[in-house]
Amino acid sequence: MLTAARNEMLTRVGPGTPMGELLRRYWQPIAGASELDANPIKTVRLMGEDLVLYRDRGGRYGLIDRHCPHRRADMAYGWVEDTGIRCSYHGWLVDQTGRCLEQPYEDTTSPKPSKAGCETKAYPVKECAGLLFAYLGPLPAPELPVWEPFTWRNGFREIVLADVPCNWFQCQENSIDPVHFEWMHDNWGARLRGNDNNVAPKHLKLKFEAFDHGFIYKRVREGQSEEDRYWTVGRVALWPNGFYLGSHFEWRVPVDDENTLSVAWFFMRVPKDRGPYVQERVPTWVSPLQDETGRFITSHVINQDIVAWAGQGRIADRTKEHLRSSDIGITMMRGRFFEEIEAMAAGKEPGGIIRSANEAQCIALPNMAREFNTEGIPLADFDKDPILRQRLKEFRHHYGQPPEVRRAFVEAMGIPG
Ligand code: FES
Ligand SMILES: [Fe+2]
Repeated sequence: MLTAARNEMLTRVGPGTPMGELLRRYWQPIAGASELDANPIKTVRLMGEDLVLYRDRGGRYGLIDRHCPHRRADMAYGWVEDTGIRCSYHGWLVDQTGRCLEQPYEDTTSPKPSKAGCETKAYPVKECAGLLFAYLGPLPAPELPVWEPFTWRNGFREIVLADVPCNWFQCQENSIDPVHFEWMHDNWGARLRGNDNNVAPKHLKLKFEAFDHGFIYKRVREGQSEEDRYWTVGRVALWPNGFYLGSHFEWRVPVDDENTLSVAWFFMRVPKDRGPYVQERVPTWVSPLQDETGRFITSHVINQDIVAWAGQGRIADRTKEHLRSSDIGITMMRGRFFEEIEAMAAGKEPGGIIRSANEAQCIALPNMAREFNTEGIPLADFDKDPILRQRLKEFRHHYGQPPEVRRAFVEAMGIPG
């Protein structure tokens, strides 16, 4: 249980709030690069700030104030040129650093028009593994961490976005919540398929460990032992707002205090006999969350998670909760956020930030599936593993995979459509 003031500290993300300032120190995934192929401009709301993301004709990415520095028109209705984005109202041209390059009327009529003071807000953007990451904190920006899976080859990757109607922190608490797998995904999942029994192996033992890039949780369930990878390796609640499960990442990116962009990146190693495989573009798609009656879709794993997150309310009221031993990881994670916020207020750099380019270029994380993802296995062996067999049949993580993404997957894997 938390006081209302402590809950507010964890959940408020606007500029100047303690958590908002902490999260701004880390690169945040905000879109898929392929989203800008059809239309090079996308509106983005991030930690309470309204922005536009664009790719200019020179291939540079920009993330700038949504409103034009001239008289505040909406830059989302402008167009991109070789060196920036132009406002459609009076034609001012702005670049990715926020500099105003052209003011057409002034440039025509005055001998030396000064553009000083007309800069607009601008944040750096970097592309990695098909994702676009933005940094909203004080400069110089730290290195963008290149997690090891981003360097893997011979994989079919896809990015799935979802607009989640609640605060980011309750989503992130789910990254360190092993027991919900048993209930939400297994037992509830079985009921949704018409099975009236609790089918899931019970959790018998949990362990949570802190490391530089977050927390590792380990578990033993009925039928498993401490020899199992779920105990010897575990899974990662990635600091500060991610989740890493061996073949995919999820991030809970705050849109504002009451909304979150769920960004998930998936890797599927093509069968050993299919390589070398090169994926030209990483597809990005948006998972719908509600059916036509307005009820949440419950058929897919992350959609089920979202039922839990949104069900806790726009901002979960942590003054009314009752934490137990299954929630030790959650208490540890909250504690670390409070410590980091305090350290930052004392002028210290928060943990997990990387300043060395060398260190950032391939960061290994605990991974239960490294060999499968790097070495690969023959297609015939997929059948021996129930999870892999299922993964070939359908995309179980998010509802609504578009048919063209399925077709590209089928083609990459070399399986019958
Ligand atoms: S408001 Fe954008 S150019 Fe005038
Ligand atoms: Fe889950």
